[in-house]
Amino acid sequence: MRAAGPEHTPVQERMAEFAAEHRFPNIGPEAGGVLRTLARLTGAGTVFEFGSGFGYSASWFLRGGADHVVLTELDDDELDQGREFLADAGLADRCSFEGGDALDTVDRYDGPFDVVLVDHHKEGYCDALEAATPKLREGGVVVADNVMRGPIDFDAVLAHLEGEPEAIDADDEPSRAIADYLDTVCHDDRFETVALPVGSGLAVSTKVA
Ligand SMILES: C[S@@+](CC[C@H](N)C(=O)[O-])C[C@H]1O[C@@H](n2cnc3c(N)ncnc32)[C@H](O)[C@@H]1O
Repeated sequence: MRAAGPEHTPVQERMAEFAAEHRFPNIGPEAGGVLRTLARLTGAGTVFEFGSGFGYSASWFLRGGADHVVLTELDDDELDQGREFLADAGLADRCSFEGGDALDTVDRYDGPFDVVLVDHHKEGYCDALEAATPKLREGGVVVADNVMRGPIDFDAVLAHLEGEPEAIDADDEPSRAIADYLDTVCHDDRFETVALPVGSGLAVSTKVA
């Protein structure tokens, strides 16, 4: 995947170095390439991100031709850093930088969204899906990160989805949240979902109704 995947731009390379230095979990270049492709395939006008960090995932949507990305971030320092990186890349004029809880921010946007990235705290994934779905156009895509790796026990998530709800430890909230998200989106007739083992694992759900 790495050999056939996209290269970083110089600013993305600096972002990757910054992430490594600060042990920050951005989406990585292979998943970034998927975001770029989704923006391109949907002819994305507006992308809404739940959890933007310092703009690395946004930079991939913008490279895929998205007209506009709404970045949301609880941490003001990360958001400021994102402003700086995306300005250096000449992309800041295609971005809205929104501090605070993404679940509050999404209420202030009417849509339509072409792509939605769900990559904030895992316990908020189902709420994000519920809030964003009415604002997502038909043919639009919700992509959720960390469905296979990250702060989750993947074997327990898998067992849960295969009918063993007790497989997830009672205090393992992130794993339960990812299992709930997958259970919800995979059984929602408005979506067609595929899980891609790219990066930390992406659930890609196309709105079909
Ligand atoms: C995995 S990182 C995002 C990485 C980013 N999407 C990327 O690939 O470049 C998750 C981010 O979500 C932020 N976050 C967590 N809960 C949030 C919320 N409710 N609203 C907005 N941001 C949130 C965290 O501060 C963190 O920076």
